[in-house]
Amino acid sequence: MTDAQQLQHYSAQSLERLWPRLETTLRDEANAAPADWRTFETRLRREWNRLFELLFGLYGSHYDFFYHLEELLTATARSWLTRASWLKQLDERRSATPEWFQSQQMVGGMCYVDLFAGTIQGLRERLPLFKKLGLTYLHLMPLFESPEGNSDGGYAISSYRQINPELGTVADLSELAREFQEQGISLVLDFVFNHTSDEHEWARRAQGGDPEYQQFYFLFPDRTIPDRYEQTLREIFPTVRRGSFTWREDIQRWVWTTFNSFQWDLNYANPAVFRAMAGEMLFIANLGVEFLRLDAVAFIWKREGTSCENQPEAHQIIQAFHSLARIAAPALLFKSEAIVHPDDVMSYISPHECQISYNPLLMALLWESLATTEVKLLDHSMGHRFRLPAGTAWVNYLRSHDDIGWTFDDNDARWEWIDPVGHRSFLNQFYMGRFPGSFARGVPFQENPDTGDARVSGTLASLAGLEQAIQSGDEQQMDLAVRRILMLYGIILSIGGIPLIYLGDEVGTLNDYTYSTDPDKANDSRWIHRPRIDWTWHRQVEKEISSPHGKIFAELTRLIALRKQQPAIFDGETEFVETGNGHLFGYVRYGGNQRLFIVANFSSQPQEMNADLLREYGTGYHFIDLIAGRTFSAEHILRLEPYQCLWLEQETATTIN
Ligand code: GLC
Ligand code: GLC
Repeated sequence: MTDAQQLQHYSAQSLERLWPRLETTLRDEANAAPADWRTFETRLRREWNRLFELLFGLYGSHYDFFYHLEELLTATARSWLTRASWLKQLDERRSATPEWFQSQQMVGGMCYVDLFAGTIQGLRERLPLFKKLGLTYLHLMPLFESPEGNSDGGYAISSYRQINPELGTVADLSELAREFQEQGISLVLDFVFNHTSDEHEWARRAQGGDPEYQQFYFLFPDRTIPDRYEQTLREIFPTVRRGSFTWREDIQRWVWTTFNSFQWDLNYANPAVFRAMAGEMLFIANLGVEFLRLDAVAFIWKREGTSCENQPEAHQIIQAFHSLARIAAPALLFKSEAIVHPDDVMSYISPHECQISYNPLLMALLWESLATTEVKLLDHSMGHRFRLPAGTAWVNYLRSHDDIGWTFDDNDARWEWIDPVGHRSFLNQFYMGRFPGSFARGVPFQENPDTGDARVSGTLASLAGLEQAIQSGDEQQMDLAVRRILMLYGIILSIGGIPLIYLGDEVGTLNDYTYSTDPDKANDSRWIHRPRIDWTWHRQVEKEISSPHGKIFAELTRLIALRKQQPAIFDGETEFVETGNGHLFGYVRYGGNQRLFIVANFSSQPQEMNADLLREYGTGYHFIDLIAGRTFSAEHILRLEPYQCLWLEQETATTIN
């Protein structure tokens, strides 16, 4: 027998031994819901080989492997049996149409509940706005219990089963999930599984000296091992604290803390950690979450001598979580948050791992092209890095609650005769407004004094020039800033995948400098782009089309409505096109018997393109720009206004009159 055959044999044998034990343990629950029990059995048998191989690969050498496996399966079965019936119906609906999230109807929004709506109840009052924007996906930023004061915006979680009492209760959240689902809006929550806060019960027990819980984390009595690891680790928050370890006086230990000192990394080499977190995941799934945003995925497995990012075991762990979700919460999908090298970003995306992923490369390169006015790096990179496996999709965004980092590939840059190191430094200078002539008002995030690395914080509008233009009262600059913003939206709405808006950016909110007076936020410049929304102002803007903010809102809602009518944006293919003009970014979308030719001008000057190109990608001579409603003929030169984005469709007999 080959190794693979042996493993299969072992896997089958294990299920034969385990199944009767599960039947005994869960007899009462099974008898109470025989149909659900049969469904569990069917799904478990379907997933079994994959799940077993993954877990055996990760933990098979532990003497108590089968104990953990049995406990895990029992918990998974219980989670399924207690899943609400509306979610079970959703499971069926989603399984019947697995491509549902590829639809052009999909539009995402993200917000902090407190900053955007005060409370969970307050979010209900925002429903009319969500409807106006056409949102179908709502990511609520971390809302679980977390330490007072600085909690990294909630990314330090003290309990995955309680939410911050100021926002509401777990029951409120779950009720909201159901209501929003009825309105066609899927709830997205974070799964912050790389670390817990140092106030989580597990961490407290570890602090109290409980050896079982000390093994949940990475604790070291002295610097010997930390020093060895640190030779190859990247510093994530170097301005907050150097290195990746924190000395805890109370327990006389160094603790692995990749992010802030109060965020303790979990040790997934311990099967008890996997099992505990699987339980938390299924609990969150049963609240009514459809997409779980896997926070900091890259960091979850440590291996000495490496960067401890993107290790093979990280993939196995996520796949094993996904396999459990397939059994107990099939409607649940995973979103990868890997803000790393583009090859590594790609490595998390597959139907069996993360079905959707942030697209940090597109995000960074859109800004790169705005700064340089040239699209060569964007075009070259997208040409070979945009296509995804079937059954998966990008989440395309312009900025998130985090900083912007220049995660393009160095060789892609060199291919275009760009020096990657110098270019990153230029981009930082440009977006920090230090470069002469820059329109941007960003600020540095985590400048590393040793390496010179830095990332940028700022809202969409402030980075795109609106803040500077408003302050100088320059109407022409305001107009250009609004055009930049709308062009960027025009791209993420049409390029294929789920467009994601940081809520507040729909009206072009500017940077909020008040964070620097709050001691809990002052050393984290990302708060500059997480403003609290002033609803009196927002409502005013929604009505006032003449102001730059009102124009952004009106045009964005129109673009979203337009997106929803284009079958070519459903799933399908994106082909990137050499436009023959270095300022023009072009691509074609095919699908649903429609072709759309999109072209965007990254320059502040009018630009031209030989419209004959359109004929190569369409078949006819006459085209209409769906955005401005203007018609073109392929015999002429196509002229684009500064920062104009065209969505060109071939005119059919019915549209020509
Ligand atoms: C992710 C989050 C970020 C947080 C970090 C640690 O990158 O997006 O906000 O600081 O993880 O949880
Ligand atoms: C890490 C994450 C990135 C995030 C940052 C927090 O680098 O990979 O997503 O931006 O931490 O700011």
